[in-house]
Formats: sequence, C-alpha cells, structure tokens
Amino acid sequence: MQKIEKNIVILMSGSGSNMAAIVHAAQNGQWRDRFGARVVCVISNRADSPGLATAQVLGVATQVIDHKHFTSREAFDAALQVAIDGYQPALVVLAGFMRILTADFVTHYNGRLVNIHPSLLPAFTGLNTHQRAIDAGCAVAGASVHRVTDELDHGQILAQAVVPVLPGDTADTLAARVLYQEHLMYPKVIRQLLLQL
Ligand code: GRF
Repeated sequence: MQKIEKNIVILMSGSGSNMAAIVHAAQNGQWRDRFGARVVCVISNRADSPGLATAQVLGVATQVIDHKHFTSREAFDAALQVAIDGYQPALVVLAGFMRILTADFVTHYNGRLVNIHPSLLPAFTGLNTHQRAIDAGCAVAGASVHRVTDELDHGQILAQAVVPVLPGDTADTLAARVLYQEHLMYPKVIRQLLLQL
C-alpha cells in the first residue's frame, strides 16, 4: 500500500503542551500504520511563547509572526496564510492560538482547520472557562475539539473529554485535569481527521 504523507501546521501562542502531544503522536509511530503525518511547522504569534523552544527540541521548524507588527487583523491573517500555505498542509491545527481569525482566513481552510477549547461546548465559549464552570456549579467540565468557523468557539464538535469538578477545585486544578485529557484526545481526533482527508 502506498503511504500517503500529510503535513500538519500547528498555530499556538503559549506553552504548547497540546502541540507537543501532537508532535509526539506523529513522531513515535502511533499514526504510521496507514499514512505518514508530520508536523512541518509550529507558528506562534508571540516570540515569547515557551512552546517555541519545546518545538525546536522536538526537531520541528518554528516561525514567529507577531500580530503586533501588522496594522490590521486582515493583514496579519494574510501573512499567516502565506506562511501556512508554504507548507501545503492537509490540516491546520489551532492549539492555544489566542487570536480571533477573519472569515476569509477561516473560509480558505474550510474543512481542514480545527481547534481545541477548554470547555464542554457549547457551554463557556471564550476565556476563563474553568473558573466559570466552577462558579456555575457544574459537576463536570472538559474540553472540546471542534471545526473552526468565523464565530468564536463554534463549529462542528468533533470530540469531547469530560472530567469531574471536584470539591475544592480551583481554576488551576481543574485546568490541569482538563489539560491531561486534552493531550489524550487531540492527537486521536487529528489522526481520525487525517484518515478522512
Ligand atoms: C488549552 O487549554 C486549550 O484548550 C486552549 O488553550 C490551552 C492551550 O494550552 N485552547 P497549551 O498551550 O496547549 O499548553
């Protein structure tokens, strides 16, 4: 059987732990039964993202495209698009990428743009999801992998991971419990998507 090689580009802004989980899955052979997939570039909009050093240690190319160097959201997204398209990715993965994307950008990557959000969507779109789940008295919290549309944290839900909210939880303790599940879930969903693409 001919092996198909598929490129993934990951966009992130911060610590990059989901990025690292995806790179590990791609590198250690978990996906190599049916096709080859590799993370060809990690792009951050922040030069100080700790995840950049992590990606470099993992042997993945990195690029910084600082949104502050652009006069408009459209100009930033256009530059981002040029950089991404240079890698001809089958899939563009948002992993803690803290920028709202324009409709043009989202349309350009229709069907191959996914995000992970730290709540059980459609509940708690936006920021501070863990504190809001605690404040609302939720018994469970979690994370969702979803397709990206031009409406923030909307789009088809592809998978969800559920964790309990425990007595005495803080936003940090709950976030850590959710993040552990994110690292398990996101690589699996990406593998499934790549098989379909
Ligand atoms: C994760 O909680 C993810 O759900 C959200 O941003 C966080 C990114 O964490 N979108 P990391 O950079 O992957 O460690």
